[in-house]
Amino acid sequence: MSTAVILVAAGSGLRLGSSRPKAFVPVAGKSLLQHSIDTLGHWDVPFTLVIVVPEGWVEPARAAAASLGHTLVVTGGATRTQSVRNGLAALPEGTTTVLIHDAARPLMPLDVFDRVRDAVVAGASAVIPCVAVVDTLVTRDPHSGRTEGGVDREALGAVQTPQGFDAALLVAVYRQAVGDFTDDAALMRDAGYEVTAIDGDPHGFKITFVEDLQRASALLGADTAPRVGTALDVHAFDDTAPLRLAGLVWPGEKGLAGHSDGDVAVHAIVDALLQAASLGDLGTHFGTDRVEFQGANSTVFLEHALVLVREAGFEVSSVGVQIIGNSPKVGPRRREAEGVLAALVGAPVAVSATTSDALGFTGRGEGIAALATVVLSGH
Ligand code: CTP
Ligand code: MG
Repeated sequence: MSTAVILVAAGSGLRLGSSRPKAFVPVAGKSLLQHSIDTLGHWDVPFTLVIVVPEGWVEPARAAAASLGHTLVVTGGATRTQSVRNGLAALPEGTTTVLIHDAARPLMPLDVFDRVRDAVVAGASAVIPCVAVVDTLVTRDPHSGRTEGGVDREALGAVQTPQGFDAALLVAVYRQAVGDFTDDAALMRDAGYEVTAIDGDPHGFKITFVEDLQRASALLGADTAPRVGTALDVHAFDDTAPLRLAGLVWPGEKGLAGHSDGDVAVHAIVDALLQAASLGDLGTHFGTDRVEFQGANSTVFLEHALVLVREAGFEVSSVGVQIIGNSPKVGPRRREAEGVLAALVGAPVAVSATTSDALGFTGRGEGIAALATVVLSGH
């Protein structure tokens, strides 16, 4: 009896909207992939692990599994079916039982791995973990909206992973199969094999959207307390430059000096974002030594800061920015600026403005200051 687990982690996580592949997104301080690896690290069954990752992620996966022996890392394909195929091709000679698990289910407990494996070892060709369907179900006509009740919820199951198989059968079935399937049991069913259900676990839910990450981190007891960042930025007026402020172009207004487009409001937001995530400040990430950012539009800084913030495990909840100066008059274009900035940040942005009662450099009309406050939520 020789067991292998294929962890499929080669998806890009489009619906999560992260800059890195979903399996490498952190929740409660470690990647989704690492959660499954750490769970399996406590398994009392000897097994070979095959991890299937996107191109370019072999090394990080190797590092994540360094504490386990017998780990192989291969790259996946354009679809889940192709990724599993690549994983199967890497199975060690003599594997009798194979479990295929989505890295997108980081909280699946070990006893489900046990139940799936036990059922295969006891003779089942294909085994799937199922959980109860909790909602009332109806059939519905998508055109007329007409519904019919009487769907027996008890007779239905929502399918999870790990799914377990007689390894030789699954390899043979994959060899014959054409097209893509959403899970591996579907190929076996298609090929005429019986698929047996065992009890899954509601904790094994799949991470698809940001809300799923937040649910996972709450279940893991992660520190999800909001983080606040505050930052001030100041730029002197430069009569020769066009004014860019709060993501807008302001024709006919005095421009601002600065090594990028001088958008003092966006710079303050970027600095506050970095501070809120404890990532340092503008100088840490966009210092003059970073040639790729020289003369860059401030929205490039903002986009890069948002990537860093998300990689650190945070989402932006809201942003406020106050513009301090004698000109331009922000009020008439406040809503427009809020709309542009909110679209850039992906969260509500409130803009306000004030003068400094003719005092100080803003009061003397020497430049504009902006004070930003950012609230992040953790996952
Ligand atoms: N998967 C894979 N190779 C692919 C596509 C998906 O290995 N080409 C894996 C994912 O890494 C995930 C599992 O299959 O562990 C289930 O896929 P899904 O939840 O759809 O993840 P993604 O495809 O990454 O997400 P999305 O569909 O939102 O892009
Ligand atoms: Mg997908």
